[in-house]
Formats: sequence, C-alpha cells, structure tokens
Amino acid sequence: MERLGCKKIKDGLLANLKERTQEFINKGNKAPSLAVVLVGDDGASQSYVATKCKMASLLGFVHFDYRFDEDLKEEELLSLIDKLNLDDDVDGILVQLPLPKHIDADKIINRIAKEKDVDGFSPYNLGRLMLGQECFEPCTPKGIMEIFKYYDIPLSGKNVTVIGRSNIVGKPISVMCMQKGVDATVTVCNTKTSDLKAHTLASDIIIVAAGRPGILDSSVVKDGAVVIDVGVNRVADPSSEKGYKVVGDVDYDSFLTTECKVTPVPGGVGLMTVVMLMENTLMAAMRRRG
Ligand code: GUN
Repeated sequence: MERLGCKKIKDGLLANLKERTQEFINKGNKAPSLAVVLVGDDGASQSYVATKCKMASLLGFVHFDYRFDEDLKEEELLSLIDKLNLDDDVDGILVQLPLPKHIDADKIINRIAKEKDVDGFSPYNLGRLMLGQECFEPCTPKGIMEIFKYYDIPLSGKNVTVIGRSNIVGKPISVMCMQKGVDATVTVCNTKTSDLKAHTLASDIIIVAAGRPGILDSSVVKDGAVVIDVGVNRVADPSSEKGYKVVGDVDYDSFLTTECKVTPVPGGVGLMTVVMLMENTLMAAMRRRG
C-alpha cells in the first residue's frame, strides 16, 4: 500500500501562503483577517476552531474569535453576521458547523456576504461551483483536489465513487471531479444505495465521506485503486489519555497488504481543509482590497 500522507503537502502550501501573505502586507495592506464563530461546546468543533485560529496566527493573519453558549438565539447570530459583513476589517467569516438545532444553519450561511464566505457554503458560491465559475471552493473538497495534484493522480476518464452526499463534502467534490477539464465519471452513493460494493469494486478512485468508521475495507476495492478518507470519527479508547482516538471511515489496516493508495487519518485530508481555509481567506483579502 502507498500511504498518501498530507503533512508535506500542507507544509509546502503553508510556506507558499506565508510568502504571498507577506507580499500582500508589504504592499501596504493590513493582514488578512478571519472571524471565527463557534456556538456551543462540542469537543470536535472546539478542536477544529482551535486549529484554524492557530494556523491563522502562524500565517500572520488576524483572527477575531466569537464563542457563544449553546442557547444563543438565532436572531443574535444573524445580527453578528450582519455586523461582520459590514466590518471592513473582516475579510472572511467562518461559522463552525454543526450549529445547535434551534438555529437554522442554512439561514445563517445564506446571510454571510458572498465575498466573505471563505467556507464556500453559500448558495451563491455553491451555485457558481456547479456552473464551473470562479468561486470560493469549499475547503475539504478543494484540499482533496490538491492531494490528487501533489500525488499526480489522474482523474480524466477515471471512475470515481463518492460515498456521502453532504453539502460540505460529497456534493461539492462530486461536482469538482466531473467538471469539464477534470473529466472523471462520478457516482455518488448514499445510505440507500442498494449495492455499494458494485460501485466501489468498479472504481479507480473512492472518496469516503460518510461519517461511519470502517464503512470501506479492501475487500470491496479493486487492487491499485486510490482511497481518500474524509472521515473524522472519535471512538472510545481507554488506553489514550483523552479517552478516545480519531479514526477515519476507512478500515486502513485492511489495505496494508494491497497496492492501493490510501490517505491516513489523522495526517490526511483533515490537514488540507485548514490550509484551504487560509488560502480562501487570503483570496478574500486580495479580492476585497488587493
Ligand atoms: N464542520 C465540519 N467541517 C467544517 C468546515 O469545513 N467548515 C465549517 N464551518 N464547519 C465545519
């Protein structure tokens, strides 16, 4: 098996981003800035947000942190978004998902100004993505495309199966793979797919974003295929200090004796997502003020 680790890709992209950020600042611009909004105390979300803030600092970006209790009212969050939209010192707005159930996430995302939607989740940006027009691409799919580029994995004419149809990963990555110029043949599977194995066995590339540990193992993948594991699942692990460990959606060990190429978790797609958010934030700053 070939392990498609992403640390080197991340480090290379970060070095490049740092340089471009410095150039932007040297031209007399204020540093790019990102407003990060977290509602509630979900452990995984807290950890994602901490990573995003840390990377923003590392690049010399300004970040504004907004943390709220679980009981924040939808109206209050909408008012904050309105304020951030109008604030000239804010280039990008990131509202960490999921939001508490009483808050309509679609309504919140829709309220973010399109030129500050660095997550690329708004109908405007996703619509443009669908049409093959320039936009903020959602960070995880954008990161997956960088993995294909770095490891020289061709997509044209290949059979790609995506497991999962979320708005954040499954739908956008399937559109990006089928786009003219990329030219993959894409199948998108979901929980009701009647014969998942038939699709995975016929695939050159499988992108797994189902949120279910172990949903894919090597017995249903043809040898030599590429497997991209987007899963981030916390499972109990009494032997670890935290009491849990993070695993992907793929049974990684089952691939060890194959000729497949597989991204690890941790150390894979997750590293890319955060870098792409920073890339989008620099793009937002340049477009607004460059
Ligand atoms: N929750 C899980 N992934 C993401 C992401 O990429 N962006 C935001 N805002 N929330 C998430």
